[in-house]
Amino acid sequence: MQYGKFITFEGIDGAGKSTHLAWLERFLQEKGLEVLVTREPGGTVLGEALRALLLDQRRTMHAETEALLMFAARREHLDKVILPALERGAWVISDRFTDASFAYQGGGRGMALEKLEQLEHWVQEGFSPDLTLYFDVPVEVSRERLQSARAADRFERELDDFFERVRQAYLQRARQFPQRIRVIDGSSSLEKVKAAVTEIVEKFWSTQFDRDGKE
Ligand code: TMP
Repeated sequence: MQYGKFITFEGIDGAGKSTHLAWLERFLQEKGLEVLVTREPGGTVLGEALRALLLDQRRTMHAETEALLMFAARREHLDKVILPALERGAWVISDRFTDASFAYQGGGRGMALEKLEQLEHWVQEGFSPDLTLYFDVPVEVSRERLQSARAADRFERELDDFFERVRQAYLQRARQFPQRIRVIDGSSSLEKVKAAVTEIVEKFWSTQFDRDGKE
């Protein structure tokens, strides 16, 4: 039995990743794969409880507390959901993963990247996504989209300069890992974004499988 692949979606809040995530799920299902869609923080019972604490806008916490809770949720997520699914051959799509910790806790909150790297190493032991789709949008665009959405959570209430730092940290990660992280211009039309996602996914697909559809 072949291992499944792990694909993550990233972007600042309001970058529009959810629409494309649903599309990718269908695309892979139509290829006959078992697909598991999950999210971070969350994805397990304990992880979802941690998510509620982390997103609750009435709460304040130290940046390192925030990072530790993100990685605690991630440890659980890997152990209970992600790794077992990959081991049975399923493809896993996660709405956010560790790049978000580098972007939000590192870029946004200013936490030392070395500490985040230590947590990453401790929790993941070298494990990382096979492919990451990063939806890049200017902060003004994300702001406009968020205004029409539901009530803002603890992160969405942050000011524009926080999101600018998050965005720059994502772009820095993309420069650091150009093979894994593909940058998509999320501010163009839905059709154009979908075409960009399709091209990346088709290419990734063809690198995994030969023309007969076998690995
Ligand atoms: P979302 O799932 O609705 O995008 O919300 C999750 C929020 O949590 C989002 O604002 C980004 C933030 N986040 C971090 O700050 N660090 C992390 O490691 C993860 C996974 C998410």
